[in-house]
Amino acid sequence: MNQIALNINGKPVSGSVEPRTHLADFLREGRDLTGTHLGCEHGVCGACTILVDGTPVRSCITYAVACDGAEIVTIEGLDDDEITRELREAFKREHALQCGYCTPGMLVSARDLVVRSVDSDEHDIRVAMSGNLCRCTGYVGIIKAIRSVIAARRTRDIAAISGGGRSIVGPAGSGHASAEPNNASVRRAAPVLAPQPAASAKSRLSMDPGWIPQASFDQKFVVSYPRQQVWEMFGRVRDVAACLPGASLTGEPTPEHVEGQIRVKVGPIAAEFRGQAEIERDESSHSGKITGAGDAVRSNSATRGVISYRLLPAGDGQSTEVALTIGYTLTGMLAQFGRPGIVQDVAARLTAAFAKNLEARLGGKAATDLSSRDGGLDAGSLLFSAVAGRLKELFGRLFVSRS
Ligand code: FES
Ligand code: FES
Repeated sequence: MNQIALNINGKPVSGSVEPRTHLADFLREGRDLTGTHLGCEHGVCGACTILVDGTPVRSCITYAVACDGAEIVTIEGLDDDEITRELREAFKREHALQCGYCTPGMLVSARDLVVRSVDSDEHDIRVAMSGNLCRCTGYVGIIKAIRSVIAARRTRDIAAISGGGRSIVGPAGSGHASAEPNNASVRRAAPVLAPQPAASAKSRLSMDPGWIPQASFDQKFVVSYPRQQVWEMFGRVRDVAACLPGASLTGEPTPEHVEGQIRVKVGPIAAEFRGQAEIERDESSHSGKITGAGDAVRSNSATRGVISYRLLPAGDGQSTEVALTIGYTLTGMLAQFGRPGIVQDVAARLTAAFAKNLEARLGGKAATDLSSRDGGLDAGSLLFSAVAGRLKELFGRLFVSRS
């Protein structure tokens, strides 16, 4: 048994727990906070979502012992919260619940969105809420309710708080410390991301030559510069990395090798992947391949991927079509976001952002579309929700991972 002390809904709480006890059981069985519901107990349905240090997390896959010192806010702790009250009214008005089993988790995730979202774009809300499943109501009313609250608050000149006031989000309970309140009841997670060695990713890269991607798909885009100019740009690793939202290099790249990291966030899950990639290029066919692997240490996830690209003349020869084939495998806690639909949606947006930045850089300008929130790509945000997952799998596999 382990002794822990934490703050739950504004009150200090201590107790002893077995290392295997998850936070939802600790709250429900030990504290009678049964507003936190358990559905899948597998990190998929989102019914158990609560706030840990201000960050929405899935309490069914969070060990209570890992939250020693953390500030926990459950649905009961949001009784008097202004945003949650508005959401409750909107859910009632829009018939956004039937049995109500998913509703506590929905409200917690939606509250985070209301805090962070600049506008009420329906698609972005749908993507950001994709980690919360409802088995009986359907999502139309839920999305309408959330949209209405965001729109009403922005109309009242209540601005969005970028990243919810957090400088870094991470797995449950891992970031407690110097939290600053962004409202009466919620604190931000303190960033604690120590650099992690990429050796494991490297060894996986070189070990397993027979690796076959779990899934693959194609993407393409056109930039309005001649093929030779684009080809030369693709040979400059730093320039290419600068076009990837949330990505940064962690070492001096060579034409054949690069080490880096990328931060992404999908719904309530955030990850920082760190890893490395091998680069191959064939000038005769204007094609290349990037094979990478990485780890997201804090979520105990790993990713591996390969991106093949080919540059083709387009239009009158003054433009270039970039054709990509991306294969990936994602394992660990984040594997739930490896479903092809989510990944491809994210990849489409990521590719669009990459293409926009590439075009800007080819024109001698800085990349403009970094989709960067809190220093990382916010896939759950209203702007880039779709991009992160895919980027994570895609370029995440190439460059990849940690956190
Ligand atoms: S019960 Fe936790 S995600 Fe389903
Ligand atoms: S209202 Fe019943 S599961 Fe969502």
